[in-house]
Amino acid sequence: MGAKHILVINTKGGVGKSTLSSNLASYFSFKGRTALCDFDRQMSGVRWLERRDPSRRRIDSITGWEYRGTDDYDFIVMDPPAAVARKDLVSLMARSDVVLIPVLPSPIDIYAAADFVRDLIVYGKIRTTQKPLAVVANRVRTNTVIYDKLKRFLQSLKLPFIASLRDSQNYIHASTNGIGIFEMEPMVVARDIEQWQPMLSWINEAVEKGRMPLMDQQSARASRPTPHKKPKLRAVS
Ligand SMILES: Nc1ncnc2c1ncn2[C@@H]1O[C@H](COP(=O)(O)OP(=O)(O)OP(=O)(O)O)[C@@H](O)[C@H]1O
Ligand SMILES: [Mg+2]
Repeated sequence: MGAKHILVINTKGGVGKSTLSSNLASYFSFKGRTALCDFDRQMSGVRWLERRDPSRRRIDSITGWEYRGTDDYDFIVMDPPAAVARKDLVSLMARSDVVLIPVLPSPIDIYAAADFVRDLIVYGKIRTTQKPLAVVANRVRTNTVIYDKLKRFLQSLKLPFIASLRDSQNYIHASTNGIGIFEMEPMVVARDIEQWQPMLSWINEAVEKGRMPLMDQQSARASRPTPHKKPKLRAVS
């Protein structure tokens, strides 16, 4: 059985792709042979691995664009840069078993996410492949107007919205030390780990069964946004 490829993607910069990727790699390193596939010239994933203590669970580094597939791993987390050409988007989507889209609760990010999801549908062909694809809200402050707007927007996309991760210094600490929140003092990260649980259950179900988790498969099929048509958004202040 080949590696399961988890793609973390959004063509908007700074939304938490590398943060999500490194933490996912840390999580999967407890489940099997894991590699982090860094496509970014900034090499944040590679640098994170360089800061990782060798006594930690092993995570290998794969250089993204030269990567042509390997049977050496159980899990490969793919971390592309924000600037992905459309042709690369298609090949990344084709290569992945599960796709996660981190989105920030800000007006600009909500609009950018709408464009990106439309591109995925039109160019990434997610409609035909029924690729397990879900959205993760990142750096969330609940009980804010903008978070409510983000939630409404994500619901309008009819894509599975599987987690809301708070803005937390724990991610900065983990990044600085080449670890994931799963490798930190449980008391310190309890709230963050709790927020990851629904996402991890969703991913595990998707990778184990090789398809969209049942509940979401139905809701996603019911009404995907129409290609070329931007999901309706009211102006956000
Ligand atoms: N939930 C969070 N809480 C606190 N800080 C966060 C969180 N998520 C991301 N960050 C911080 O936000 C910054 C951007 O995150 P990250 O590098 O993961 O984004 P990215 O989408 O990979 O960016 P790029 O498009 O440049 O590759 C980083 O400094 C990261 O530490
Ligand atoms: Mg990045």
